Amino acid sequence: MSQSRPYFPNPAPQWAKPTAAIDTAPKTIVDNTAAPGPFKATIIAFCCNYCAYAAADLAGSRRMQYPAEVRVIHVPCTGKVEPEHILGAFEKGADGVLIAGCLEGGCHFLEGNLRAKKRSNHIRKTLDEIGLGADRLLMVNLSAAMAPTFVERVNEIVETVHRMGPSPLNKNYPASATAESTPAEKKA
Ligand code: FES
Repeated sequence: MSQSRPYFPNPAPQWAKPTAAIDTAPKTIVDNTAAPGPFKATIIAFCCNYCAYAAADLAGSRRMQYPAEVRVIHVPCTGKVEPEHILGAFEKGADGVLIAGCLEGGCHFLEGNLRAKKRSNHIRKTLDEIGLGADRLLMVNLSAAMAPTFVERVNEIVETVHRMGPSPLNKNYPASATAESTPAEKKA
């Protein structure tokens, strides 16, 4: 008589049991109770695809330095930057906004940068009226080869914002904070 073979010849694996109790307590990700450090501005730069973004890219590939406080947002054309994008950035705590598009007459969508200019002039007035200050918004026109101008204008808005201090809507800093003494962090 043939011996019956077990279906599972190997013994079932014995998984190691956890030796310590699993910590299920929620972890703190952002410590909002910490005292704010020196002012680091948040500046949103809307850069059009054809000129300004290319200039920013060229600045990067030439290893030109500009403050890391600027966050570049790539847009197809400055004409597509609506007032709600600009005001939304301020509402979320941005300390400054830069709109960088093609040279006048050079917009790849014909008049996008002219519309953006009109809008930014209008929004600058609104920023003054609501107490944020018109100078927190800057519009510049560049060609793709104007990397040094891109860096200059970025430095200009960073310096302006540092002089003005944090936006009253920036919740990371108390309203009284100023940052004139704090040098902008340079891009690595
Ligand atoms: Fe550059 Fe319109 S494509 S501003």
